[in-house]
Amino acid sequence: MKNNKYPHLQLENKVCVITGAASIRSIGYGTAELFAAHGAKLIILDLAMNEQIANDLINQIETQIGKKTEIVCLQCDVRSTDSCDDAIQKVISHFGTIDCLVNCAGIVKSEGMLSISEADYDLIMDVNLKGTFNICKSVLKVFVEKQAGVIVNLASLAGQRGGGLVGGSHYAASKGGVISLTKSIAREFAPMNIRANVICPAMIETPMLDGLSAEQLDNVIAGIPLKRVGKTSELAGACLFLASDLSGFVTGATIDVNGGIHIH
Ligand SMILES: NC(=O)c1ccc[n+]([C@@H]2O[C@H](COP(=O)([O-])OP(=O)(O)OC[C@H]3O[C@@H](n4cnc5c(N)ncnc54)[C@H](O)[C@@H]3O)[C@@H](O)[C@H]2O)c1
Repeated sequence: MKNNKYPHLQLENKVCVITGAASIRSIGYGTAELFAAHGAKLIILDLAMNEQIANDLINQIETQIGKKTEIVCLQCDVRSTDSCDDAIQKVISHFGTIDCLVNCAGIVKSEGMLSISEADYDLIMDVNLKGTFNICKSVLKVFVEKQAGVIVNLASLAGQRGGGLVGGSHYAASKGGVISLTKSIAREFAPMNIRANVICPAMIETPMLDGLSAEQLDNVIAGIPLKRVGKTSELAGACLFLASDLSGFVTGATIDVNGGIHIH
């Protein structure tokens, strides 16, 4: 018998949009897999999406969770308001609604402040901060109409402590902006039953860490109290908490998923 007070599936039939999940090693993918296991219907948006990647993602998720799932994969460039509005319109045409948005799309560059070109500054800001703003705005129009919805944004430890591990000052500034943007959304839209929270990860094992040498990685791990890097499944767990009713009274919060490297 199904117990509605304590559902085993935390996102049963919820329509969840996840950006930045084209790579099977990414945080976005880990989140998509866990959400599908919890009964969500998925829309995966990524700049790098194509038919082959979409088929591989769907196969991988269905193999891992052992069941068929409703998954739509769309190419979307979060830097463009038109691209975001267009993708969200397609989601509404297909599923009729959206319950949750998780923003994992992001890029990183490691450069000293004096080496950062104007073009690199603009690119990092456009993807990480403006991109988060754009897709949140497209989805919030739907959430305001239905007077419900949940947003989970991905910032970074860099935005809290001023860069330093992976990512230059432009990356840190963009992620500081994501923290601030999320708090603003939380405050403005809470009266409309819309929640928004932000996660600050550090050292999660994804392609984002590929740029570090083995020695650099060892040095960073030595400074992490848990003495290891994090798994995408562990970041996905935080996303599941924030996307589901488990966190129904949590909004405007910043959740650290960093192995204890920044305890404050
Ligand atoms: N991995 C970590 O340790 C770590 C630490 C701190 C913060 N983060 C943040 O977590 C998020 C996910 O990181 P990840 O490690 O999974 O990265 P990743 O590089 O594996 O995935 C990022 C995805 O974003 C997509 N993307 C890039 N530009 C885009 C655009 N303009 N429009 C749409 N999609 C675009 C990429 O194609 C890629 O699939 C990022 O925002 C990142 O800054 C990660």
